[in-house]
Amino acid sequence: WATYADDAEAILRLKQQRNAVVLAHNYQTPEIFHCVSDVVGDSLALAREAQQVDADVIVLAGVHFMAETAKLLNPTKTVLIPDPLAGCSLAESITAADVCSLRAAHPGVPVVTYVNTSADVKAESDICCTSGNAVKVIESLGVDRVIMIPDEFLAQNIARQTGVEVITWPGRCEVHERFTAQDIERIRADHPETVVLAHPECPPEVVAAADLAGSTAQMLDFVVQRRPRQVTLITECSMSDNIAAQHPEIDFVRPCNLCPHMKRNSLAKIRHSLESMTHEVTIDPAVADRARAAVDRMLSV
Ligand code: 13P
Ligand code: SF4
Repeated sequence: WATYADDAEAILRLKQQRNAVVLAHNYQTPEIFHCVSDVVGDSLALAREAQQVDADVIVLAGVHFMAETAKLLNPTKTVLIPDPLAGCSLAESITAADVCSLRAAHPGVPVVTYVNTSADVKAESDICCTSGNAVKVIESLGVDRVIMIPDEFLAQNIARQTGVEVITWPGRCEVHERFTAQDIERIRADHPETVVLAHPECPPEVVAAADLAGSTAQMLDFVVQRRPRQVTLITECSMSDNIAAQHPEIDFVRPCNLCPHMKRNSLAKIRHSLESMTHEVTIDPAVADRARAAVDRMLSV
């Protein structure tokens, strides 16, 4: 704890010196989420907030695609990522060349790309989406068929909600793909009163077995507004830890899958990032304008 307190104090001081803000994803550990962050949220909220940042420096405590999105939306700011190896199995599952091949195979079908992708992939896309706005984004297109990449489970889950046919790509979140419908059966057998919320990156049978599916922010809103006596969050472990810290009256059942990429962040790395002004996120200008257009289209829906 002495080291945590020391790092946290140093970060608060460095944020003032550097005129910096820390944007943290909901999967960050509680000491990052509660002690040093200026903004916390899901991918959509972080993108919207990044666009509004006035400070000179944005430290993105999350994964690389989130830092890239912040840079796309606020290109004059210095965007730092505490650990440049914080990737994402979805972002790594597809390349820009793959998107071009999909387009060639399905001419005229719009490409809807999950934000969990590289700027190169976004640049080849028509519009982006997050788990929080995917239904709205798809419905805004007014078509009956879309190419939805790269998360095949998210695409299948959204197809069920919208009735729009989806052409998928075999990308998966390495954290959410591990949950099974049997996990939920077991949890319900042991905790008959629990409310089960699942992230839409989970397999469709898991989403079907849950009471509600939504982005990390939508899960958090549900818990904070409805205050169930007991809840099970079928998602990354830190979600429950972060909400439980502020709501000790709610009992969290904790099936626990960790995201190794999100967990690359730490107070020590955020401190080092601000001390050394590393690791700066840059985007090839030849890619940035087209990638930004796909994200901007999403934000205008
Ligand atoms: P959210 O946009 O729901 O926060 O999801 C991001 C993510 O990486 C989930 O695995
Ligand atoms: Fe990517 Fe899954 Fe980790 Fe989210 S939880 S960053 S989707 S690997």
